[in-house]
Amino acid sequence: MGAARRRGPFREGERVQLTDERGRMNTVTLERGGAFHTHRGFLNHDDIIGKVDGSVVVNNVGQQYQTLRPLLSDFVLSMPRGAAVVYPKDAGQIVTMADIFPGARVVEAGVGSGALSISLLRAVGDNGYLHSFERREEFADIARGNVETIFGGPHPAWQITLGDFQEEVVRTEEPGSVDRVVLDMLAPWECLDAVATVLAPGGVWINYVATVTQLSRTAEAIRADGRFTEPDAWESMVRGWHLEGLAVRPDHRMVAHTGFLLVTRRLADGVTGISVKRRPSKTEFNEEDVNAWTPGAVGERLVSDKKLRRAARDAIAGTNVVDTP
Ligand SMILES: C[S@@+](CC[C@H](N)C(=O)[O-])C[C@H]1O[C@@H](n2cnc3c(N)ncnc32)[C@H](O)[C@@H]1O
Repeated sequence: MGAARRRGPFREGERVQLTDERGRMNTVTLERGGAFHTHRGFLNHDDIIGKVDGSVVVNNVGQQYQTLRPLLSDFVLSMPRGAAVVYPKDAGQIVTMADIFPGARVVEAGVGSGALSISLLRAVGDNGYLHSFERREEFADIARGNVETIFGGPHPAWQITLGDFQEEVVRTEEPGSVDRVVLDMLAPWECLDAVATVLAPGGVWINYVATVTQLSRTAEAIRADGRFTEPDAWESMVRGWHLEGLAVRPDHRMVAHTGFLLVTRRLADGVTGISVKRRPSKTEFNEEDVNAWTPGAVGERLVSDKKLRRAARDAIAGTNVVDTP
């Protein structure tokens, strides 16, 4: 499902990303005799079919379009979706930090729109195994459509089962037979027993959750269970950069929050996890430190009483003030 479909000239039935002279993007599926229409003319698909990836083509009134095969990240952000998708930045973290390898046996829930399934399938490869569980049929249909669109048909390593992960995974997978478990759902802690049953010793369980309350509940459930290693949590933030001549700076806008990742590993049966013994931390503080902990010492600006009284008067009067940095 990989290299052969992604190399060579554009073929009928393929998706192509068109970028116009103003940077506007559209994706079309190439059909013999088809056309891409805008208020500035039309572009015949036949003028794209057979061209090399990366060609520039012109429409009937001379508008130029850059043509490229969409990347996985382009596809995921533009594909039909019914629920929040795992963004490419997080999918990259999941594949790497959950150590998804070619040929791995992976189970996943929920499927949602299939964005993460696509990255997992790429990582396990044609000879791997991804079994995805989804409780809502409509989502399973969306995901199947998206996966088949990007891979050009059913993926040989993929199957979806409808139903609740915690019930279905123990019915369909042998105990201790799964290398990796990937959960993106509201209540991963409800799946703890099922994960512990199917995951092989040393296997990795990664969770993607949107809120700190889910993160904390999942972490505490894992700790209390005792069959897993101490969980690790993190988030990733990706800030784009504006690159134009000497104006090289971070973009003004960014996606500031997507979700948190929480990873743990299955211990061997019958062992008790080693709880990390911490030496009294040097970062703990005593009375003396507290006394030294003045606003100035922690970097707060000292503001005079006079300035504060003026600010209070301005605030009460609703006066506009110019804030000085
Ligand atoms: C945020 S979406 C998943 C998005 C998906 N990872 C993607 O990248 O497109 C969460 C999905 O989990 C499903 N779900 C929630 N709890 C579940 C469970 N216990 N078993 C199976 N599916 C579940 C929901 O129906 C929903 O489709």
